[in-house]
Amino acid sequence: MKYEQPNYDDWEDAQPHEMWAHAREHCPVIEYPGNEWNPTPSFMTTRFAEADAVLRDQRTFSASINADAMGPFMGELMLGLDGAEHRIYRNLVAHAFRRSSLERWRTELIDPLITQLLDDIAPRGSAELVADLTSKYPVQVICGIVGVPTEDHEQFNEWAVSINYGPLNPEEGRAASLAMVEYLAPLIEQRRSEPTGDLLSELVHAEIEGERLSEEKLYGFLRLLLPAGAETTYRMFGNCLVALLSDPDLHRRVRNDRTLIPALIEETLRWETSVNMVSRIATTNTELGGCPIPKGAPVTVLNGSAGRDETRWKSPDRFDIDREPVKHLAFGTGEHQCLGMHLARLELEVGIAAVLDRLANLALDPAHDEPVISGYAFRGPNELHVIYDRS
Ligand code: HEM
Repeated sequence: MKYEQPNYDDWEDAQPHEMWAHAREHCPVIEYPGNEWNPTPSFMTTRFAEADAVLRDQRTFSASINADAMGPFMGELMLGLDGAEHRIYRNLVAHAFRRSSLERWRTELIDPLITQLLDDIAPRGSAELVADLTSKYPVQVICGIVGVPTEDHEQFNEWAVSINYGPLNPEEGRAASLAMVEYLAPLIEQRRSEPTGDLLSELVHAEIEGERLSEEKLYGFLRLLLPAGAETTYRMFGNCLVALLSDPDLHRRVRNDRTLIPALIEETLRWETSVNMVSRIATTNTELGGCPIPKGAPVTVLNGSAGRDETRWKSPDRFDIDREPVKHLAFGTGEHQCLGMHLARLELEVGIAAVLDRLANLALDPAHDEPVISGYAFRGPNELHVIYDRS
């Protein structure tokens, strides 16, 4: 099998698992030759071991490539920094996403939001859960945490998707990034004179070594946090629901025993994570799984493929919530491990429980095609039609 470069034209409809499985067995580190514009070859790791090694070794595999790829759309961002500088910026916001802050978000934001969203659809008896629920929920949570009006969530979701896809569609990505800055500028001015206790107020007044954050850094935070907290989690919510609703026995078990929800979420993160690619660049000549990697080569970790590594999980394509839990890489690992992972897990737990509580006799809608999880970098169902008892 030839390992084609990902085709950006069908990026959202792609089904790469078969190709990744072949590569794990025959060529775990795929090399793509350089071209006339960029002579340096690039690499993709498909197994758990190499993925874990890359993400844990930031000296050899720097995250600075993210500053080049995402900088034009997100501005200066922590995801593109290494070492001490990265830690300083991450620590400025890390407390808002620690487990200890989650109880506050749960009562103030998460519970009321999911209740409202389900109140809207419960009387209808049928819904398309991506448009009606999952795409509306995490984006409003992250807007609430940051301190931007949650009623503008649709606009934010659109900007989030355009910014995340910026490297593929730079014009749209840059336009979304500019629009977000224009929208945020007056809110930032307000918080400068009247702090309100939200994350935005904290960032506006935060200092590093006695200096306020530059505008570029401030906007960098916001343009990373909003997309990172929105698209990732809404697609993941869709993947969890597809896994649950496609298997009536599993659905019955989880409906009758809600303590199984965390295992359902962890198995979905392993089996179909929403974020499937993480980028690094080699800072020196090195090797990975026996494959020489020259200095300056981009290295992409396929963490979705790492979750199907057959040397780590038996029959990895099978969805099985009774597996012994072992570490997966859905949230990455090492210094850049997902800042929002506890929040994401909480949103999913609350979201799935609320769906089961409110939508009795929930099932896939037989009038529509079965849902399909698709995509290369970001994976999730584009549509999820369901029926349930009106209430
Ligand atoms: C299920 C949902 C999510 C998944 C699968 C996910 C996945 C990831 C992954 C794989 C990384 C590592 C990137 C790297 O090493 O280059 C990451 C980083 C990050 N995530 Fe998430 N994420 C999710 C939800 C969230 C949420 C809700 C937030 C909200 C704040 C968030 C904020 C971030 C940030 C700020 C980083 C960069 C951390 C750093 O550079 O130190 N993520 N995420």
